[in-house]
Amino acid sequence: MPSVIQIRNLSKTYASGHQALRAVDLDIMDSEILALLGPNGAGKTTLISIICGLVNPSSGSVTVEGNDIIRDFRKARSLIGLVPQELHTETFETVWSTVSFSRGLFGKKPNPAHIEAVLRDLSLLDKRDNQIMTLSGGMKRRVMIAKALSHEPRILFLDEPTAGVDVELRKDMWQLVERLRASGVTIILTTHYIEEAEAIADRIGVINRGELLLVEEKAELMRKLGEKQLTLELTQPLEALPETLADYGLEREEDGARLVYRYDSQAARTGITSLLSELNRSGIRVKDLSTRQRSLEDIFVSLVREQS
Ligand SMILES: Nc1ncnc2c1ncn2[C@@H]1O[C@H](COP(=O)(O)OP(=O)(O)OP(=O)(O)O)[C@@H](O)[C@H]1O
Ligand SMILES: [Mg+2]
Repeated sequence: MPSVIQIRNLSKTYASGHQALRAVDLDIMDSEILALLGPNGAGKTTLISIICGLVNPSSGSVTVEGNDIIRDFRKARSLIGLVPQELHTETFETVWSTVSFSRGLFGKKPNPAHIEAVLRDLSLLDKRDNQIMTLSGGMKRRVMIAKALSHEPRILFLDEPTAGVDVELRKDMWQLVERLRASGVTIILTTHYIEEAEAIADRIGVINRGELLLVEEKAELMRKLGEKQLTLELTQPLEALPETLADYGLEREEDGARLVYRYDSQAARTGITSLLSELNRSGIRVKDLSTRQRSLEDIFVSLVREQS
């Protein structure tokens, strides 16, 4: 799969002296859904804004289908649709004229059939003559997506597309993103919601304090970092752990009625067999047991914690 965007050694220090991005390297692949996950102030919007030519990088380079975002700005920008984090939607303009006007800004010839198709796909066609300011928040957000798609971009950036959106609409948004990708659009979205990245992304990039900590296939990320935990329900609560079990890093829960053992499911030896025989030797009887994969959320929290 060829890359459509190449980011090399990209850094940004704002005039305030704040360094928002630190030597970011990233290749964005054709027709993928990439989720950039990171806490407030991580640098997600800064990264997107640089790619879209709204913020100047301090150093490094970005190309979009081979076009340098500074030298070949117009060409690079024309390939991109952007739905910004902050929506400016208090306008008297109608849905139709706003979306058509956006297309014109990219020097594209009017194409009412395309605008109509975009509005239909976003369930906005019946609102085409409504003023934007009269629409609900969720509809306004969809109008912003329609604007971003008006000039038929190959790449779509969605900066926090579901912030403040209810569960129902969030699911609609996920379906829309999937449909867009199926039509050949590459999608980069930012989110605070781990379950969102888990639900729709092909790859996940984790950003914290301006650093891209990792970019991985979602499944690979969850497999590689996926520590598992084994929970043992005991027949009799255990007041204290016997010496012989000291090396297993067991945690007592529920006043000793439960023991939790963490292990690497990819390791050659998980230690489970010896743990169970040790328990047996110590006369500790197990009533029930269960295992759980560490979630993406656990992984994210520990990555960000490691860095601080
Ligand atoms: N124009 C600016 N001037 C100075 N500092 C800025 C500017 N824009 C952003 N910053 C700072 O750069 C850092 C990264 O901000 P950015 O908006 O990229 O983060 P983010 O990951 O998008 O956060 P959020 O999840 O809150 O949207 C923050 O510390 C922010 O205060
Ligand atoms: Mg942001």
